[in-house]
Amino acid sequence: MPPTFTVTAAGENRLTKQNSLKRIIIISTVVLVVIFILANFWTHYQQRTSSLTSIALIPGEIHWKECIPAVENVECGRIIVPKDYFDAEAGTASVALARYKAKKFPRKGSVFLNPGGPGGPGSRLPITTGSALAKVIGEDWDLIGFDPRGIGSTMPPTRCFSSQISNTVLFANTVIEQGITVSSISDLSSPLLYDQLVEQHRQFLAVKEAHAHLCGEMMGNELKYMGTATVVRDIDFMSRVIEGEDEKINYWGISYGSILGAYLVNMLPHRIGYAVIDGIVNPVSWSNEPSHKWPINWISDAEKTYQIFLQDCSKAGPSSCPLCEYKDEPWQNLERRFEEFFDAIALNPIPVPFGNRPGVLTSGGARGLLVKSLQRPLEWPKVAKSFSSAMAGNGTALYNAIVRPLPLADLDSPEPHISPRLAVTCLDSPRPTSPDEFPTAEDLTEQGLKALREVSPHFGLSTGVSEPDGGCQYWPVDGPERFTGPWNATLETKMLIVSNTADPITPKSSGLLVNSLMPDSSVIIIQDGPGHCSIFLPSLCTAKLQRGYFAGEIPKNGTVCPVDLATFPDEESDKHIQMLSTEDRELLKALRDLEAMF
Ligand SMILES: *[C@@H]1O[C@H](CO)[C@@H](O)[C@H](O)[C@H]1NC(C)=O
Ligand SMILES: *[C@@H]1O[C@H](CO)[C@@H](O)[C@H](O)[C@H]1NC(C)=O
Ligand SMILES: *[C@@H]1O[C@H](CO)[C@@H](O)[C@H](O)[C@H]1NC(C)=O
Repeated sequence: MPPTFTVTAAGENRLTKQNSLKRIIIISTVVLVVIFILANFWTHYQQRTSSLTSIALIPGEIHWKECIPAVENVECGRIIVPKDYFDAEAGTASVALARYKAKKFPRKGSVFLNPGGPGGPGSRLPITTGSALAKVIGEDWDLIGFDPRGIGSTMPPTRCFSSQISNTVLFANTVIEQGITVSSISDLSSPLLYDQLVEQHRQFLAVKEAHAHLCGEMMGNELKYMGTATVVRDIDFMSRVIEGEDEKINYWGISYGSILGAYLVNMLPHRIGYAVIDGIVNPVSWSNEPSHKWPINWISDAEKTYQIFLQDCSKAGPSSCPLCEYKDEPWQNLERRFEEFFDAIALNPIPVPFGNRPGVLTSGGARGLLVKSLQRPLEWPKVAKSFSSAMAGNGTALYNAIVRPLPLADLDSPEPHISPRLAVTCLDSPRPTSPDEFPTAEDLTEQGLKALREVSPHFGLSTGVSEPDGGCQYWPVDGPERFTGPWNATLETKMLIVSNTADPITPKSSGLLVNSLMPDSSVIIIQDGPGHCSIFLPSLCTAKLQRGYFAGEIPKNGTVCPVDLATFPDEESDKHIQMLSTEDRELLKALRDLEAMF
């Protein structure tokens, strides 16, 4: 992702309103050029669709063939679905699919998968993780991944830019890419800090507005069909085509996949068979609050996870965690060192001439990356090295984790990251429509300060690097349907909810909320460990309970599962693995593979 909001040595923001204006003028010019280039793109796109038309554009048509390149036991395909379930005139969409086939018989049916995001192309899951996932879900199921609307190879795709270069350039060196810099968390009532945050949020709003205009120009009404409610209807439609009218829908989804899962079971409770959601996002807030209000809820366990990271590092000692000076150093020392580093580079960002792109590492970028890294405990040793090298003056490794190399100007590869994500979140959340309801830079600043004061003193304003939401007030369209609850559906088979005790972005409280709204139609299991979703720090217990669930054994509500891998591996954790049965070691290997492929 791109970087740099620059703060001068005096702590004054260089960005002025004039610059924002200039930016808007430049962007408008770019838009004109883009429209011109688009004429070409649309011709190209329409040719592709019409060649598809000649084969089949009847909803329900489905084609399976070998994947390219071929993958053992996996087939790839496409299904034609109604573009708009409330308007037959709208035509069709073509959803990209992949299926890891059941290896054990009798085959039980299909499980639809979602990898999160929103923006994650699920058709990759059977290809990259099929055999590992089958060990968790069961070898007697077909595992079906699909690219949700607007995402990956599903057509039409979300295309807001004429090329990936122009996509990268809009966000490069802005707060969207580099996160918001909090010059110091030590005095949140400082008027200087307030002004700096307001300036950064002005830039944030201007870039979001430009982005939304581009999406509107490029996509127009095609943007209306990416919302989660439409994807729920697609799953229902696909299940009827693939498994037959009367077969139940089975589902497995993590992170944003828990939103899709919560919508699915609450919109179509009578259609649901087995459903697992893992890493729970609060669906009530998601569907009823504007997206800038979401993060305050998401980060409620971020501090807890951060403390585990610091403690585990100190326990591991400097040989595997160079952030500590000696083994068992008080974790508060490490925390202080991090704050000194963030404060220092807020004043003097680190030049990175030889990174993925030449640029600078800002405090906002580094802090955003730290909270993002808390999601993946198995990466902590690597993260510790990158931060320790940045603290010693070399920001390259950290910067490269934020900023990708400049992409080739490739029209045909899907647009990464931000546009497909907003295409979903801006249709799901309520969108302020009159300008006097639009959140101002001051509103966003107050919201951020509230999060820093009340929820997470280190990361209250730092989730933007990993979750670039917001600005939906500028989004050009609404969807045909927006689901906002109720969330208390009655299911024939209880849904399985999985939450970790220390998940920095999808807190346990959200799992408990979904569980409490469906007390008789769900069970929750709690994985006792840090990280985002159960799969990022493997637990044999969690995996076996899921496998049992898909075989018809509903786990006891409230079961707590330990994890089986250490964040900083040592002799003791190696011994634990050696003592496992062969079967458990094989399952653990599958879980590691799963972690690595996500
Ligand atoms: C800085 O770190 C990068 C990536 O870790 C490394 O390739 C490079 O050699 C380092 N530069 C210096 C001057 O040590
Ligand atoms: C579910 O919630 C809705 C709205 O809060 C309420 O009207 C309805 O009675 C609830 N249904 C059940 C089965 O509890
Ligand atoms: C299920 O377990 C959770 C977590 O322990 C608990 O909060 C909840 O009340 C339980 N639900 C029921 C119906 O017992």
